[in-house]
Amino acid sequence: MPSQLFQPGLLDGQVAIVSGGGSGLGRASALELAALGAAVVVCGRRGEPLEETAARADGGRVEARVCDIREEDQVDGLVDAVLERHGRIDLLVNNAGGQYMTPAEDITPKGFRTVMRLNVEGTWLMTHAVATRAMMDGRDGDPSGGKIVNVTLSPHHGLPGMAHSSAARAAVENLTRVLSIEWARFGIKLTALAAGHFATETLMTKYPKQVVDGVAGTVPLGRLGTEQEFAWLVAYLASPAGDYVSGAILTIDGARDNWFGAWPPGGLTDAAGKPLAEQRRPKP
Ligand SMILES: NC(=O)c1ccc[n+]([C@@H]2O[C@H](COP(=O)([O-])OP(=O)(O)OC[C@H]3O[C@@H](n4cnc5c(N)ncnc54)[C@H](OP(=O)(O)O)[C@@H]3O)[C@@H](O)[C@H]2O)c1
Repeated sequence: MPSQLFQPGLLDGQVAIVSGGGSGLGRASALELAALGAAVVVCGRRGEPLEETAARADGGRVEARVCDIREEDQVDGLVDAVLERHGRIDLLVNNAGGQYMTPAEDITPKGFRTVMRLNVEGTWLMTHAVATRAMMDGRDGDPSGGKIVNVTLSPHHGLPGMAHSSAARAAVENLTRVLSIEWARFGIKLTALAAGHFATETLMTKYPKQVVDGVAGTVPLGRLGTEQEFAWLVAYLASPAGDYVSGAILTIDGARDNWFGAWPPGGLTDAAGKPLAEQRRPKP
Protein backbone atom coordinates (compact mmCIF):
# COMPACT_ATOMS: atom_id res chain seq x y z
CA MET A 1 0.00 0.00 0.00
CA PRO A 2 1.39 3.47 -0.81
CA SER A 3 2.29 5.80 2.03
CA GLN A 4 -0.61 8.00 3.12
CA LEU A 5 1.81 10.81 3.93
CA PHE A 6 5.11 10.72 2.09
CA GLN A 7 6.06 10.86 -1.56
CA PRO A 8 6.55 7.49 -3.29
CA GLY A 9 10.22 6.73 -3.95
CA LEU A 10 11.41 8.90 -1.06
CA LEU A 11 13.65 6.10 0.22
CA ASP A 12 14.51 4.47 -3.11
CA GLY A 13 17.90 2.75 -2.93
CA GLN A 14 18.03 2.60 0.85
CA VAL A 15 18.47 -0.65 2.75
CA ALA A 16 17.01 -0.91 6.26
CA ILE A 17 16.95 -3.46 9.05
CA VAL A 18 14.02 -3.33 11.47
CA SER A 19 14.36 -5.59 14.50
CA GLY A 20 11.11 -6.88 15.93
CA GLY A 21 9.54 -6.23 12.53
CA GLY A 22 7.09 -9.09 12.87
CA SER A 23 4.64 -7.16 15.01
CA GLY A 24 3.39 -3.83 16.32
CA LEU A 25 5.54 -0.75 15.92
CA GLY A 26 8.28 -2.68 14.08
CA ARG A 27 5.91 -4.10 11.49
CA ALA A 28 4.28 -0.73 10.84
CA SER A 29 7.69 0.92 10.49
CA ALA A 30 8.97 -1.77 8.13
CA LEU A 31 5.88 -1.48 5.90
CA GLU A 32 6.11 2.33 5.78
CA LEU A 33 9.82 2.24 4.86
CA ALA A 34 9.11 -0.37 2.17
CA ALA A 35 6.19 1.66 0.81
CA LEU A 36 8.65 4.52 0.29
CA GLY A 37 11.00 2.35 -1.75
CA ALA A 38 13.47 1.01 0.83
CA ALA A 39 14.53 -2.63 0.82
CA VAL A 40 13.72 -3.74 4.36
CA VAL A 41 14.90 -6.75 6.30
CA VAL A 42 12.81 -7.58 9.36
CA CYS A 43 14.22 -9.78 12.10
CA GLY A 44 12.91 -11.45 15.22
CA ARG A 45 12.99 -14.84 16.91
CA ARG A 46 9.89 -16.28 15.23
CA GLY A 47 9.72 -16.75 11.48
CA GLU A 48 5.96 -16.74 11.06
CA PRO A 49 5.17 -13.13 12.06
CA LEU A 50 8.15 -11.92 10.04
CA GLU A 51 6.86 -13.76 6.96
CA GLU A 52 3.47 -12.14 7.53
CA THR A 53 5.05 -8.69 7.48
CA ALA A 54 6.89 -9.62 4.28
CA ALA A 55 3.64 -10.84 2.72
CA ARG A 56 1.92 -7.53 3.49
CA ALA A 57 4.55 -5.44 1.72
CA ASP A 58 4.19 -4.48 -1.93
CA GLY A 59 6.76 -5.60 -4.45
CA GLY A 60 8.61 -8.06 -2.21
CA ARG A 61 10.46 -5.19 -0.58
CA VAL A 62 10.40 -6.75 2.91
CA GLU A 63 12.46 -9.85 3.65
CA ALA A 64 12.16 -11.96 6.79
CA ARG A 65 15.24 -13.20 8.69
CA VAL A 66 15.11 -15.04 11.96
CA CYS A 67 17.62 -13.56 14.40
CA ASP A 68 17.75 -13.34 18.18
CA ILE A 69 19.39 -9.98 18.82
CA ARG A 70 20.86 -11.28 22.11
CA GLU A 71 23.04 -13.79 20.26
CA GLU A 72 26.24 -12.40 18.77
CA ASP A 73 26.61 -15.14 16.13
CA GLN A 74 23.02 -14.64 14.96
CA VAL A 75 23.49 -10.87 14.74
CA ASP A 76 26.68 -11.36 12.72
CA GLY A 77 24.88 -13.84 10.48
CA LEU A 78 22.08 -11.34 9.88
CA VAL A 79 24.49 -8.56 8.93
CA ASP A 80 26.44 -10.98 6.67
CA ALA A 81 23.23 -11.96 4.90
CA VAL A 82 22.03 -8.39 4.38
CA LEU A 83 25.40 -7.20 3.10
CA GLU A 84 25.75 -10.18 0.81
CA ARG A 85 22.34 -9.57 -0.71
CA HIS A 86 22.16 -5.77 -0.75
CA GLY A 87 25.76 -4.57 -0.30
CA ARG A 88 24.82 -1.79 2.11
CA ILE A 89 22.80 -0.88 5.19
CA ASP A 90 21.55 2.70 5.48
CA LEU A 91 19.21 2.41 8.42
CA LEU A 92 18.93 0.25 11.51
CA VAL A 93 15.77 0.48 13.60
CA ASN A 94 16.44 -1.14 16.98
CA ASN A 95 12.80 -1.74 17.80
CA ALA A 96 12.96 -5.29 19.23
CA GLY A 97 12.56 -5.19 22.96
CA GLY A 98 10.21 -5.83 25.77
CA GLN A 99 9.67 -6.36 29.43
CA TYR A 100 7.04 -7.72 31.78
CA MET A 101 5.08 -5.52 34.11
CA THR A 102 5.69 -6.24 37.77
CA PRO A 103 6.24 -4.40 41.04
CA ALA A 104 9.96 -3.65 41.49
CA GLU A 105 10.21 -5.63 44.72
CA ASP A 106 9.17 -8.76 42.81
CA ILE A 107 11.81 -8.47 40.08
CA THR A 108 14.27 -11.32 40.49
CA PRO A 109 17.96 -10.99 39.59
CA LYS A 110 17.27 -13.26 36.61
CA GLY A 111 14.31 -11.15 35.51
CA PHE A 112 16.31 -7.94 35.72
CA ARG A 113 19.18 -9.48 33.74
CA THR A 114 16.76 -10.78 31.10
CA VAL A 115 15.31 -7.33 30.47
CA MET A 116 18.74 -5.67 30.44
CA ARG A 117 20.14 -8.31 28.12
CA LEU A 118 17.37 -7.93 25.56
CA ASN A 119 16.99 -4.17 25.59
CA VAL A 120 20.52 -2.99 26.27
CA GLU A 121 22.85 -5.77 25.14
CA GLY A 122 20.70 -6.77 22.16
CA THR A 123 20.50 -3.16 21.00
CA TRP A 124 24.25 -2.77 21.47
CA LEU A 125 25.10 -5.96 19.54
CA MET A 126 22.96 -4.88 16.58
CA THR A 127 24.26 -1.31 16.70
CA HIS A 128 27.91 -2.32 16.87
CA ALA A 129 27.66 -4.97 14.16
CA VAL A 130 25.78 -2.77 11.68
CA ALA A 131 27.81 0.37 12.36
CA THR A 132 31.26 -1.24 12.18
CA ARG A 133 30.53 -3.41 9.18
CA ALA A 134 28.22 -1.27 7.08
CA MET A 135 28.45 2.38 8.09
CA MET A 136 32.09 3.16 8.77
CA ASP A 137 33.87 2.20 5.57
CA GLY A 138 32.52 3.56 2.35
CA ARG A 139 34.03 3.76 -1.11
CA ASP A 140 37.27 5.72 -1.64
CA GLY A 141 37.97 5.77 2.08
CA ASP A 142 34.97 8.01 2.83
CA PRO A 143 32.72 6.72 5.57
CA SER A 144 29.41 5.56 4.19
CA GLY A 145 27.48 6.76 7.24
CA GLY A 146 23.96 5.77 8.10
CA LYS A 147 21.19 6.17 10.63
CA ILE A 148 20.33 4.23 13.75
CA VAL A 149 16.98 4.67 15.48
CA ASN A 150 16.59 3.18 18.96
CA VAL A 151 13.14 2.66 20.44
CA THR A 152 13.01 3.59 24.13
CA LEU A 153 10.35 4.48 26.67
CA SER A 154 8.37 7.47 27.90
CA PRO A 155 7.74 8.74 30.58
CA HIS A 156 11.35 9.46 31.49
CA HIS A 157 10.54 10.32 35.08
CA GLY A 158 9.68 6.70 35.80
CA LEU A 159 7.07 4.12 34.86
CA PRO A 160 6.04 2.18 37.98
CA GLY A 161 5.79 -1.55 37.30
CA MET A 162 8.63 -1.31 34.82
CA ALA A 163 11.73 -0.53 36.88
CA HIS A 164 13.91 -2.93 34.87
CA SER A 165 12.82 -1.55 31.52
CA SER A 166 13.01 2.06 32.72
CA ALA A 167 16.66 1.40 33.64
CA ALA A 168 17.36 -0.38 30.35
CA ARG A 169 15.84 2.30 28.14
CA ALA A 170 17.69 5.05 30.00
CA ALA A 171 20.90 3.17 29.22
CA VAL A 172 19.99 2.99 25.54
CA GLU A 173 19.23 6.72 25.47
CA ASN A 174 22.64 7.58 26.86
CA LEU A 175 24.24 5.15 24.42
CA THR A 176 22.43 7.06 21.68
CA ARG A 177 23.87 10.33 22.95
CA VAL A 178 27.47 9.18 23.28
CA LEU A 179 27.57 7.39 19.93
CA SER A 180 26.08 10.41 18.19
CA ILE A 181 29.23 12.26 19.24
CA GLU A 182 31.78 9.48 18.86
CA TRP A 183 30.55 8.20 15.51
CA ALA A 184 29.72 11.58 13.97
CA ARG A 185 33.07 11.33 12.21
CA PHE A 186 31.67 8.40 10.21
CA GLY A 187 28.48 10.26 9.34
CA ILE A 188 26.44 7.98 11.59
CA LYS A 189 23.35 9.65 13.04
CA LEU A 190 21.60 8.16 16.04
CA THR A 191 18.22 8.99 17.49
CA ALA A 192 16.13 7.51 20.29
CA LEU A 193 12.36 7.46 19.93
CA ALA A 194 10.92 7.44 23.43
CA ALA A 195 7.57 5.79 22.87
CA GLY A 196 4.65 6.45 25.16
CA HIS A 197 1.62 4.21 25.03
CA PHE A 198 0.75 2.75 21.63
CA ALA A 199 -2.22 0.54 20.87
CA THR A 200 -0.20 -2.46 19.72
CA GLU A 201 -1.42 -6.01 20.18
CA THR A 202 1.18 -6.52 22.91
CA LEU A 203 -0.04 -3.54 24.90
CA MET A 204 -3.69 -4.44 24.46
CA THR A 205 -3.34 -8.12 25.43
CA LYS A 206 -0.39 -8.46 27.79
CA TYR A 207 -0.99 -5.91 30.47
CA PRO A 208 -3.64 -5.95 33.21
CA LYS A 209 -7.07 -4.97 31.95
CA GLN A 210 -7.23 -2.03 34.40
CA VAL A 211 -4.01 -0.69 32.88
CA VAL A 212 -5.24 -1.11 29.32
CA ASP A 213 -8.54 0.55 30.15
CA GLY A 214 -7.03 3.33 32.25
CA VAL A 215 -3.83 4.19 30.47
CA ALA A 216 -5.31 6.68 28.00
CA GLY A 217 -6.41 8.69 31.03
CA THR A 218 -2.74 9.25 31.88
CA VAL A 219 -2.02 10.73 28.45
CA PRO A 220 -2.72 14.47 28.16
CA LEU A 221 -3.94 14.03 24.58
CA GLY A 222 -6.38 11.48 25.98
CA ARG A 223 -5.63 8.55 23.70
CA LEU A 224 -3.04 5.95 22.80
CA GLY A 225 -0.78 6.46 19.81
CA THR A 226 -1.29 4.48 16.63
CA GLU A 227 1.32 2.25 15.02
CA GLN A 228 1.11 4.38 11.88
CA GLU A 229 1.95 7.58 13.76
CA PHE A 230 5.08 5.90 15.05
CA ALA A 231 6.01 4.57 11.61
CA TRP A 232 5.72 8.04 10.06
CA LEU A 233 8.29 9.37 12.51
CA VAL A 234 10.69 6.55 11.62
CA ALA A 235 10.19 7.32 7.91
CA TYR A 236 10.74 11.04 8.51
CA LEU A 237 14.06 10.31 10.20
CA ALA A 238 15.09 7.95 7.40
CA SER A 239 14.34 10.63 4.81
CA PRO A 240 16.56 13.64 4.03
CA ALA A 241 14.43 15.57 6.56
CA GLY A 242 16.25 13.55 9.23
CA ASP A 243 19.78 14.19 7.96
CA TYR A 244 20.62 16.82 10.60
CA VAL A 245 18.93 15.01 13.47
CA SER A 246 21.42 13.17 15.65
CA GLY A 247 21.82 12.59 19.37
CA ALA A 248 18.21 13.60 20.00
CA ILE A 249 15.76 11.78 22.21
CA LEU A 250 12.46 12.37 20.43
CA THR A 251 9.50 11.70 22.65
CA ILE A 252 6.34 10.51 20.93
CA ASP A 253 3.78 10.10 23.66
CA GLY A 254 0.86 12.56 23.48
CA ALA A 255 2.60 14.69 26.16
CA ARG A 256 2.71 11.83 28.68
CA ASP A 257 6.28 12.77 29.62
CA ASN A 258 5.05 16.12 30.96
CA TRP A 259 2.28 14.69 33.12
CA PHE A 260 3.07 14.21 36.80
CA GLY A 261 -0.29 13.12 38.16
CA ALA A 262 -1.04 12.06 41.69
CA TRP A 263 0.25 8.63 42.74
CA PRO A 264 -1.33 6.16 42.68
CA PRO A 265 -3.59 6.94 39.72
CA GLY A 266 -7.06 5.43 40.10
CA GLY A 267 -7.23 1.78 39.07
CA LEU A 268 -3.61 1.36 38.01
CA THR A 269 -2.41 -0.12 41.31
CA ASP A 270 -3.94 -2.31 43.95
CA ALA A 271 -5.58 -0.73 46.98
CA ALA A 272 -2.21 -0.48 48.76
CA GLY A 273 -0.58 1.39 45.87
CA LYS A 274 1.34 -1.63 44.58
CA PRO A 275 1.77 -1.59 40.79
CA LEU A 276 -0.19 -4.33 39.05
CA ALA A 277 1.59 -7.31 37.54
CA GLU A 278 1.37 -8.54 33.98
CA GLN A 279 -1.47 -10.90 33.08
CA ARG A 280 -1.78 -12.16 29.54
CA ARG A 281 -5.20 -12.44 27.96
CA PRO A 282 -6.24 -14.13 24.71
CA LYS A 283 -5.69 -12.04 21.61
CA PRO A 284 -8.88 -10.39 20.35
N1 LIG B 1 3.49 -0.45 22.51
C1 LIG B 1 3.86 0.45 23.38
O1 LIG B 1 3.03 1.15 23.95
C2 LIG B 1 5.33 0.69 23.67
C3 LIG B 1 5.66 1.74 24.53
C4 LIG B 1 7.00 2.00 24.80
C5 LIG B 1 7.98 1.21 24.22
N2 LIG B 1 7.62 0.19 23.41
C6 LIG B 1 8.70 -0.61 22.82
O2 LIG B 1 8.59 -0.53 21.42
C7 LIG B 1 9.03 -1.76 20.83
C8 LIG B 1 7.91 -2.36 20.00
O3 LIG B 1 6.77 -2.49 20.82
P1 LIG B 1 5.45 -3.27 20.37
O4 LIG B 1 4.36 -2.79 21.22
O5 LIG B 1 5.33 -3.23 18.88
O6 LIG B 1 5.82 -4.72 20.92
P2 LIG B 1 5.85 -6.16 20.27
O7 LIG B 1 4.79 -6.29 19.24
O8 LIG B 1 5.87 -7.11 21.42
O9 LIG B 1 7.25 -6.16 19.52
C9 LIG B 1 8.42 -6.62 20.03
C10 LIG B 1 9.13 -7.34 18.92
O10 LIG B 1 10.46 -7.67 19.34
C11 LIG B 1 10.75 -8.97 18.91
N3 LIG B 1 11.73 -9.53 19.83
C12 LIG B 1 11.59 -9.77 21.16
N4 LIG B 1 12.70 -10.34 21.65
C13 LIG B 1 13.57 -10.46 20.62
C14 LIG B 1 14.88 -10.97 20.49
N5 LIG B 1 15.54 -11.47 21.53
N6 LIG B 1 15.48 -10.93 19.28
C15 LIG B 1 14.81 -10.41 18.20
N7 LIG B 1 13.58 -9.91 18.26
C16 LIG B 1 12.96 -9.94 19.46
C17 LIG B 1 9.43 -9.73 18.95
O11 LIG B 1 9.42 -10.80 18.02
P3 LIG B 1 9.78 -12.32 18.48
O12 LIG B 1 8.97 -12.57 19.71
O13 LIG B 1 9.40 -13.17 17.32
O14 LIG B 1 11.25 -12.32 18.73
C18 LIG B 1 8.45 -8.66 18.53
O15 LIG B 1 8.23 -8.66 17.13
C19 LIG B 1 9.47 -2.64 22.00
O16 LIG B 1 10.83 -2.45 22.25
C20 LIG B 1 8.62 -2.10 23.13
O17 LIG B 1 9.10 -2.44 24.40
C21 LIG B 1 6.32 -0.08 23.12
